[in-house]
Amino acid sequence: MSEASAMDPHCAAPEFGHGHFERALVRAVRRLHPAPSRVLAVLDRGAALLCEAPLRRALATLELPARVVPAPHGEANKTWEKAGALTRRLLAAGCDRGSLVVAVGGGVCTDLAGFAAATTMRGVRWGVCPTTLLGMADAALGGKTAVNLPEGKNLAGCFWFPEFVIADAAVLRSLPEREWSCGLGEVVKSAMLHGEAALRRLERATPSALRRPSPELLAAVKAAAALKLRVVRADPREGGERALLNLGHTFGHALETAAGPRRLAHGEAVALGLLVAVRFSAGQGLASAAYAERIESLLTRCRLPLCYPGALPSRARLTALLARDKKASAKKLDLVLPIAPGHNVIVAGAAPRDAARAIEEALGMRTARG
Ligand SMILES: NC(=O)c1ccc[n+]([C@@H]2O[C@H](COP(=O)([O-])OP(=O)(O)OC[C@H]3O[C@@H](n4cnc5c(N)ncnc54)[C@H](O)[C@@H]3O)[C@@H](O)[C@H]2O)c1
Ligand SMILES: [Zn+2]
Repeated sequence: MSEASAMDPHCAAPEFGHGHFERALVRAVRRLHPAPSRVLAVLDRGAALLCEAPLRRALATLELPARVVPAPHGEANKTWEKAGALTRRLLAAGCDRGSLVVAVGGGVCTDLAGFAAATTMRGVRWGVCPTTLLGMADAALGGKTAVNLPEGKNLAGCFWFPEFVIADAAVLRSLPEREWSCGLGEVVKSAMLHGEAALRRLERATPSALRRPSPELLAAVKAAAALKLRVVRADPREGGERALLNLGHTFGHALETAAGPRRLAHGEAVALGLLVAVRFSAGQGLASAAYAERIESLLTRCRLPLCYPGALPSRARLTALLARDKKASAKKLDLVLPIAPGHNVIVAGAAPRDAARAIEEALGMRTARG
């Protein structure tokens, strides 16, 4: 992966490493021109377990005015109101136009802190330190920031590219089981976009190698990050190719909103979305049944769900949720359908009702048959 160019913030490539968080943060902040007037670290509760001490040491080394601000925690708090409260906390901590916000946490923290950084005084610089697998493979990359609205996921937000991304695999040691699986959901998506070799690498990894920062897993995460970066560089504001990254997400977001974050976390919803996409594609004769089965068994190995938790929402409810997808225009959807590893197509203009039927057919079968 080529190094990021400071002149081109779209290209802030993640700096992967093991145990380098403190060192890398100091270096990244010192590289900024102009130097920040102050550093405001937004720290997630879970990330604090392993990151708080090195974060505080890095801030002390920097000898800049600095504060650590707690991040709102959990998907249910990724809201407009919490972003507003965070902005006020940043201001109370002395945030000015020359400040640097550093988000340390999973996708919820980085989406929220990025959104607050983008909007506080019309935008202050920020850096990202993802601490979940999902963050390292996906959420911390690409400059999208967002909050959820009652109407749906990520419906308010903006593009705000970070100055740097530091991904320290050592901090994943404290990641809970379920969060590993969620991260793997995005890694599987990326492998489906990447191609046969990437998919096979995951299929060949032993179950235990998939549950720790093993060389195989880190290779897959770095590949996912590199793929996302390549696509974002080519299409930073999602006019075309970037839409491919939504594989599994149109279906997934509808299911995630319907179930609520406790029953279906983002990565789990993405896994179900991938399953719907590949089963639907196979049903249309676009993908082979064998490909759909491969994805099913890979998701199972990653301990991701193959069923919706509980009774599937009605078709009317699913249709309404799909029509509200922020990528829908004039109530039509662009669906990303997998054909084969590394070969995916965007089908433009799908009716939300047809997409809802695809969900029913892919996930409803098991419930209908008991
Ligand atoms: N901006 C984007 O491009 C993008 C892309 C994909 C996903 N997302 C967003 O990311 C969010 C999901 O992110 P997530 O899965 O990281 O969830 P999350 O941020 O809620 O983190 C999951 C849990 O792990 C804990 N945690 C974080 N780091 C930890 C660590 N090192 N050790 C122990 N616990 C730790 C958190 O406290 C939280 O309880 C969603 O809101 C999704 O919309 C954004
Ligand atoms: Zn995602």
